[in-house]
Amino acid sequence: MTQIRAAIAGIHGYVPKDLLTNADLEQMVDTSDEWITSRTGIKQRHILKEPNTAVSDMGVRAARPLLEKTGTSVDEIDLVICATSTPDLVFPSTACLTADKLGIKNAFCFDVMAACSGLIYTLTTASKFIESGSHKCVLVISGDKMSSIIDYTDRKTCVIFGDGCGALLLKPTTDGTGILDAELQSDGSGAQYLHMKAGGSLKPASHETVDAREHFVFQDGGPVFKRAVQGMSGTLRTVMQRNDLAADDVAWVVPHQANERIIRSVASMADFPMERVMMNIERYGNTTNGTIPLCLAEWEKHLKSGDNILLTAFGGGFTWGSVYLKWHYDGAAASNGQTPISVF
Ligand code: COA
Repeated sequence: MTQIRAAIAGIHGYVPKDLLTNADLEQMVDTSDEWITSRTGIKQRHILKEPNTAVSDMGVRAARPLLEKTGTSVDEIDLVICATSTPDLVFPSTACLTADKLGIKNAFCFDVMAACSGLIYTLTTASKFIESGSHKCVLVISGDKMSSIIDYTDRKTCVIFGDGCGALLLKPTTDGTGILDAELQSDGSGAQYLHMKAGGSLKPASHETVDAREHFVFQDGGPVFKRAVQGMSGTLRTVMQRNDLAADDVAWVVPHQANERIIRSVASMADFPMERVMMNIERYGNTTNGTIPLCLAEWEKHLKSGDNILLTAFGGGFTWGSVYLKWHYDGAAASNGQTPISVF
């Protein structure tokens, strides 16, 4: 029997129009463009400033053009998964809210929370529903409004993060393309280095938690940096060995965009020349679940059917891993000269 695989059948990105540049941050905290650029590679981030807008709105803005360009009707979608760490609300899920705004009625919907590894966890989860034959058209929303949980008085974190989102369509295929393998790992003992102190059931919101500024990202950057390099390069190596892939066999590596130095270290440890490593952190910062979709969307026109692609990510949890896929469609024809990332 021919093996059914889940293939990415389309992608589109969205970032809000407002920019937060290094020059802006120099006015807000004790930092400099030189420090931010040399330590992280970031020059600017997009920030969602419109009142009463959240991840579901960014999801809708990424998904509508995706459905249009892939000729997909909302009635075809039978599963919606949203990868986010900044859900609109604690509940209901942002997947439910996004599906409602898009008019999707025939799908079941849920969120995946795996911090910056959310997209690779979600693709792997979604692929199982497709491979089993139970689902045929999966909409993945992957993004974050990081500005909602960043302390803009904390120079150690506020220079890193931005807002952004992607939408991907997954469909069954039997032509040998699609998601072929994944190595996903987690280590909850890493929580001490990257977490939000309050707002969950452990420490519900109170006057005290607000006064203590505990509703923001806390990060001890050094240990996170080290584990990110180890986790991403280690799982890339595992997936490559398991699938008999040499660096030359891989068309593109798509790393989570956390820090340019992390990306360059991972590429050099796995022997990938930077020309085949997607990197756009300079213009978007770390958009958490948005980074890999924004890269894939931006590079869509270069992607060819049969290209071997490796996605790799690391995030809070700790969570990390790598996914191996063979690209399904001719990206140049699908993008048709249109902008792959909407900005408004
Ligand atoms: N501007 C100027 N100085 C800053 C600064 C800023 N924005 N942020 C920190 N510093 C200072 C620190 O206070 C420290 O000063 P000190 O030596 O006087 O105490 C010095 O710079 C070095 O700080 P350190 O935290 O050791 O810097 P770093 O080289 O590790 O870079 C990160 C910090 C956050 C950029 C880096 O650790 C990192 O990227 N970590 C991983 C982050 C990540 O991937 N997070 C998401 C998970 S996916």
